[in-house]
Amino acid sequence: MSLRLGDIAPDFEQESSEGNIRFHEWLGDSWGVLFSHPADFTPVCTTELGFTAKLKDEFTKRNVKAIALSVDPVDSHVKWIDDINRTQNTIVNFPILADADRQVSDLYDLIHPNASDTLTVRSLFVIDPNKKIRLTITYPASTGRNFHEILRVIDSLQLTDNYKVATPANWLDGEDVVIVPSIKDEDEIKRRFPKGYTAVTPYLRLTPQPNR
Ligand code: BEZ
Repeated sequence: MSLRLGDIAPDFEQESSEGNIRFHEWLGDSWGVLFSHPADFTPVCTTELGFTAKLKDEFTKRNVKAIALSVDPVDSHVKWIDDINRTQNTIVNFPILADADRQVSDLYDLIHPNASDTLTVRSLFVIDPNKKIRLTITYPASTGRNFHEILRVIDSLQLTDNYKVATPANWLDGEDVVIVPSIKDEDEIKRRFPKGYTAVTPYLRLTPQPNR
């Protein structure tokens, strides 16, 4: 069965381009972004991994560790990383799991036989420090993911966890957010949202982003 939001991300031990990884131990107290790609030496994946490497500071700011996966072995990953570094003008600074035995692919349901019998699809999981899955997305092999959107979702999740706010459609960092519907008590609202709020309707209450 596929993994759902709120499930504990399955733990595993697997080889990677940076050595053996015990996933939960490797995550520690960080958030995690685990993302699969169809194969090494493919064009879209080359751009995705290069871009992820360039986002290192953005991930670090949010206490996030990135980790990629494909079913290719370590020696292939190592050769491909050279290509990524050279062509994308970066240094790959996160591990790529070498899931040749498909252990992790099976745990995370990353092979969709009606798309391909052998290759992993382009899935991505955001995992919180309690090891809970907070976002799942699956893209077709031919469409590179938007990693700005991944950062946006992580920002939204962290705002919800820290400030009890949700984020409206197309929200961008710095824009007004929504007070979660479970907060009804006026005193609690005043305490939590000292910048005030606008009730567009009794259930749609906008407030300035609390950490800005
Ligand atoms: C790629 O990963 O680059 C790719 C995979 C399948 C189709 C097209 C591109």
